[in-house]
Amino acid sequence: MLIQQEFRLNMRKITAFLSLSLFSTFAIGEMDHHAMMMKHHAHETSKDERQLVEFPAPAYHATLKSMRDHLRAISQIQGFLAEENYEAAADAAEKGLGQGHQHGEHGNHAARFMPAEMRQLGATMHNAANDLSLSLRNVPISNDLKPVFTQLHRVTNACVACHDQYRLAPLTH
Ligand code: HEC
Repeated sequence: MLIQQEFRLNMRKITAFLSLSLFSTFAIGEMDHHAMMMKHHAHETSKDERQLVEFPAPAYHATLKSMRDHLRAISQIQGFLAEENYEAAADAAEKGLGQGHQHGEHGNHAARFMPAEMRQLGATMHNAANDLSLSLRNVPISNDLKPVFTQLHRVTNACVACHDQYRLAPLTH
């Protein structure tokens, strides 16, 4: 009886010990993983290979503001598409992304400070946006959404291509 009790007690201790060591093995493994991820991220942010483009401060702020308008327009277009309101989606594309999009008094001059290739990507985006708005206005006639998604993809591809290649900073001198 006494021996049996002692045996059970010992078994419990062994089980407790085993689960504790198993837990710490996991915990240490997780910590190592975490440390590695941190190192990986630090490494990634330290090598930003995008080309730095400097704008005078007013053009810099106007450009970022127009960027936020671009993203808002994409979001509006998607919302109007879900509502099948193609007219409103076309208006949002023209207003927020098209050639007619106002970059503001300072932003309009920003193109002057862009490398030629960057300016070209901007023009590609504006052209794609104009084609997008044409294809949106055509949906009630054609009943075909495929051209809309093709043009929307051309627009977002231009956003992605430019963001992969360039970063901005305000001129400090
Ligand atoms: C011709 C180049 C170009 C095109 C095209 C372009 N962007 Fe940008 N955008 C930039 C650059 C450069 C920055 C600054 C990035 C940085 O400095 O890290 C930026 C920044 C932004 C920001 C951050 C704004 C802020 O306040 O910090 C948003 C949002 C954005 N872009 C959205 C878009 C969207 C959406 C599109 C497409 C519809 C788009 N952009 C097209 C070049 C471009």
